[in-house]
Parts: sequence; C-alpha cells; structure tokens
Amino acid sequence: MTSLLEVRALDAGYGDISVLHGVSLHAQRAEIISIVGANGAGKTTLLSALAGLVRPTAGEVWFGGENITRMPAYKRPHHHLALVAEGGRLFPFMSVQENLHLGAYPKAVRAGRDQRMEEVFEIFPVLKERRKQFAGHLSGGERQMCAIARAMMSRPTLLMLDEPSVGLSPLITYEVFAAVKALVRKEGLTVVLVEQNVGIALEIADRGYVLDHGAIVHQGLAADLINDPLIKETYMGL
Ligand SMILES: Nc1ncnc2c1ncn2[C@@H]1O[C@H](COP(=O)(O)OP(=O)(O)OP(=O)(O)O)[C@@H](O)[C@H]1O
Ligand SMILES: [Mg+2]
Repeated sequence: MTSLLEVRALDAGYGDISVLHGVSLHAQRAEIISIVGANGAGKTTLLSALAGLVRPTAGEVWFGGENITRMPAYKRPHHHLALVAEGGRLFPFMSVQENLHLGAYPKAVRAGRDQRMEEVFEIFPVLKERRKQFAGHLSGGERQMCAIARAMMSRPTLLMLDEPSVGLSPLITYEVFAAVKALVRKEGLTVVLVEQNVGIALEIADRGYVLDHGAIVHQGLAADLINDPLIKETYMGL
C-alpha cells in the first residue's frame, strides 16, 4: 500500500542553521503517527517543512502520490493538508463561528461551510454552545478544540498538530485526543502529532518516531515504543 504522506531524507533549517538531517517517515490513511522529542529537537521545524513554511534543502515530501516538496504553503490547504500551529493561533476577538468560517477559505469548501460546521460541531459539541462567544474567552481545552475544528473546516485528509497538550491538564488533553480519534474513525483522517509529552502522544498513536537533534533515532509501533525501557528512561523519566 502506498502511503498518504511520505517524507524522504529531508534536510531543512533556517539560513545557515541546519536543523533536520535526513528525516524519513510515512503515514497511511486513517493512521495517527506521533513525533516525539525534547525541546529544540526539530519537531516544529519538521511540521513547518511539511506545511511549506520552511523550505527543505534536500529530500522530498510526497503527499497523495504527488511531490509537494516545493508547493507554496498557501496552496497546501487546497490540497487538504492542514496545520494547527502551537497554541492554535485563533483570532481572539472573533467569535468561534467566525474563526471556523475562516477555516473554510479554500474555494472548493466555501459554499458548503455551514453544513461542514454542523459536521464539525458533532465532534466538538461544546463549540456549538459557545459559537457566538469570542475565541479569546474559551478555556484552554476549548481553544485547542476550536483550532482543530477550524483546521477541519477545510476538509483535510492530513492534519498536523503541534503540541496540542501544551497548557492543558492530562484530563483535558485526553478529551482533545478523543475528539481527534473520533475524526480519524469518522473521516479516515491521517494525523501527524508532534508532542513533547511522550507518554500521552504514544498512547494515542498507531506508530511513533523519536526525533533527536533533527534526526529520527527510534521508530516503531507506538505500543512497542511505550514499553521500550530505553525510551521510558530517556524520554518519559521512568
Ligand atoms: N526561526 C528560526 N530561526 C533560527 N533557528 C530556529 C528558528 N526556529 C527554530 N530554530 C532552531 O531550530 C532548532 C529546532 O527548533 P524547533 O522549534 O523545530 O524545535 P522543537 O522540537 O519544536 O522544540 P519545542 O519542543 O521547544 O517546541 C532549535 O535549535 C531552534 O533554536
Ligand atoms: Mg516546537
């Protein structure tokens, strides 16, 4: 089976600073992969490269059988790739509903945005209750849900999440991840999840990759990684 997403020997960085070194990974349809690693490992840089915000200096990114390595960032949502950046980046003085509408800006999804919003509300019912409220007045967990919901408005097939657990209690993090799992089941969504919180990220994922100093140093089934004594000791403080 060919992968929905395939990253081949990717190098990327900022000017003279090289951050990613030969990163290769893949994700199938309806799969959740987690990329875990310490501060500064290059997790955000990797997602930025996949979103087209950082230009790779070597390697390739294939998505849906198409080489998108050089596709500009603004075109990627039209090709059903969506990134939820760290912190969610909502517009705090716009309502939940207005934030969601903005997610439906690609022409192909604009006309059906109200129907789409109802579909998204089925997964995030709390957002329906709060739809007239300013996004800035949501709780941390609701804000993260709203950011994911906004990304879902563009009907992505690949959703990339940068540290959605930051600032959330474990309980609320589980709630957010349960919603992500529901999206995977309902829509066959593929998820690339980046997390510093290794335990929780491997619990939700099918497979995992460990990124260290810009290189993949471990990979495997999440269930195997979570029980690996080396991973436990190095990344989970156990
Ligand atoms: N805009 C930038 N310009 C220059 N260097 C950067 C830039 N953004 C990140 N870096 C550097 O790239 C390296 C990887 O950073 P990155 O943000 O990708 O790590 P991360 O794994 O997401 O870390 P964190 O867990 O703290 O979010 C770091 O050494 C960082 O200082
Ligand atoms: Mg980061």
